[in-house]
Amino acid sequence: MRIITVSNQKGGVGKTTLSFNLAWWYAKQGKRTLAVDLDPQGSLTGSSFGIDRADLSQTIGAVLTKAASIQDVAIKIPGADSLYLLPANGDLVGIDLFLSAKPKAQFVLRKTLQSVKSVYDVVVIDTPPSVSLFSLNGWYAADLILIPCTPEPKSLDGLDDMLEDLADEKIPMYVLVNQFDSRAILYNDVSEAIRARGKVGLTVLQSTIHKSVMVSEAELVHCPVWDYAPDHKVTLQFKSVMQEVTDGEKKIS
Ligand SMILES: Nc1ncnc2c1ncn2[C@@H]1O[C@H](COP(=O)(O)OP(=O)(O)OP(=O)(O)O)[C@@H](O)[C@H]1O
Ligand SMILES: [Mg+2]
Repeated sequence: MRIITVSNQKGGVGKTTLSFNLAWWYAKQGKRTLAVDLDPQGSLTGSSFGIDRADLSQTIGAVLTKAASIQDVAIKIPGADSLYLLPANGDLVGIDLFLSAKPKAQFVLRKTLQSVKSVYDVVVIDTPPSVSLFSLNGWYAADLILIPCTPEPKSLDGLDDMLEDLADEKIPMYVLVNQFDSRAILYNDVSEAIRARGKVGLTVLQSTIHKSVMVSEAELVHCPVWDYAPDHKVTLQFKSVMQEVTDGEKKIS
């Protein structure tokens, strides 16, 4: 089982969009896939998968507090043989307080996921735009962290907190430039800023994703981009990103 966490403290950079498409990408290849919504906003659950957040009987919160098992809470996504979602909604607010009273609170998800390591091939975790116990649980569970950013210096502001927290960890981290608008110099700026941090295992993906209204349109109908617009230039860019992530993830021992 591989665990890929999508994270960036900065909001609106494309974390949820990538998590959704990445989960579908693996599911379409026949991988038994679990998508995990660790964000109290519940965007992966509601905006991406189109599940009514108000109507959930249980959420990832029940898993984190050990009130329920992953298999009890996971929802099967129609249209795929084996794609499941651990959903979230506003009920998660307060769970981080509960967790913070526990020893090793940042490892709760990692430990819990061990119980399904023979059930799923891939786990994709979406995290909130902040440093909280939710993000920490996502980071510490990960075999690989995918960091979408927009091509502007501010979108890397939160990266240093992540690097500090994970200073002793050797988790590979891939930065993806999303919502790119053809100004090539900005890709170089991001690459340079990443190199300057000198962290082993922190790299910028070659593939970038351009800005396109098609991405939000696909989200409105809860569709991965390749089902919504198979021949669109930006769909091909998504596929290229997914392939780079898959190649990188396969190299991890
Ligand atoms: N390449 C793109 N082109 C155009 N719009 C995009 C692109 N990527 C994402 N978006 C849109 O940008 C908005 C924010 O994306 P998303 O919700 O994935 O970001 P996020 O990082 O998860 O945000 P938050 O920090 O609030 O969780 C969404 O409406 C999404 O459809
Ligand atoms: Mg999000």
